[in-house]
Amino acid sequence: MQSNRNSQTGRRLTRTSAMVNIYKMKVNATKKHILKALQDYGDHLSGEILSEQLGISRVSIWKHIRSLKEDGYVIDASARGYRLVSSPDLMLPYEFPGLEERIHYFPEIGSTMDAARELARKGAKEGTIVIAEAQAHGRGRLSREWLSPKGGIYFTLILRPRISPAYAPRINLMASVAVATTIKKLFGLNAELKWPNDVLIEDRKVCGILAEMDAEMDVINFVNVGIGINANTSVPQFVKTATSLKDVLGREISRKDFLSVLLGEIERQQALLMEADLIEQWKKLSGTLNKYVRILSPGEVIVGRAIDIDTTGALILKERSGSLKKALAGDCIHLREEAPNIDMGAVSRQ
Ligand code: BTN
Repeated sequence: MQSNRNSQTGRRLTRTSAMVNIYKMKVNATKKHILKALQDYGDHLSGEILSEQLGISRVSIWKHIRSLKEDGYVIDASARGYRLVSSPDLMLPYEFPGLEERIHYFPEIGSTMDAARELARKGAKEGTIVIAEAQAHGRGRLSREWLSPKGGIYFTLILRPRISPAYAPRINLMASVAVATTIKKLFGLNAELKWPNDVLIEDRKVCGILAEMDAEMDVINFVNVGIGINANTSVPQFVKTATSLKDVLGREISRKDFLSVLLGEIERQQALLMEADLIEQWKKLSGTLNKYVRILSPGEVIVGRAIDIDTTGALILKERSGSLKKALAGDCIHLREEAPNIDMGAVSRQ
């Protein structure tokens, strides 16, 4: 069978699947144009005008309208034409103009991490994004589960940074800075960062970030950054460790607008990945620095005051003894105050 190389993923494609991809791209572009026209016009727009504007038949216009309705758009169709009544808050590719070809969208998936890993291994290019409305097996850090019902924002971004693997944790810092900045910009909320990469509002987690890397000794093949945001989900009152944007704001947010701003912010922050400014921004947003913390890292528990992070994103702690310790990874627990009676050897793993 005749095959070719796909410019987007770099992998070999059969002629048929290449044609299917081109067809999907065309359908998305047409749906986007129809939507834009209906949004801009705000009233009934005749199929004839749409067909003239887009250079396709009226039957084709009708088919795309039907497809938009299947996506959840409410479109009134009458003798006067088509009128957009309401739009669903879905993170469909054509809601992100300019990015739609990079987006792999799923109404529901096991985990966007798994799909992104497969895509990255097959050569998907930097900036490819896997978005899901819900995940059946969302994954959190340290092999935990990440509950992912409808209403949240779940996506994984494939990055191929040309940096040493030692600096890969900076990607977590970059992503957490981007999320906190987006929350501040859009809602004026005081989002803080908990090392290594949780985003908190009022001391409760609103966003988790999971990064998975594929690297050789000195070269990164890819880093997949998975971001889960409690957006329009509700967290039960008795859960004191988590919250959602809806719970904090008392209203639902537009997830597609949030994601659109966040993706722009990530792109902006990416340019700063190896700049000192990234560390400075993280420090300004940090809710961990200057707090007494307990770090549960692989094979070790460290208790002390968080005094700094280094250029690789490692947390530097001052222990009660005065000695400095570096934490490269692990779970961080903010303590209310210095815990004078904690014998560090006796702290049990939780
Ligand atoms: C954490 O434990 O704090 C990290 C949670 C990361 C969740 C996101 S949701 C999108 C992506 N897909 C997953 O399965 N996990 C990450």
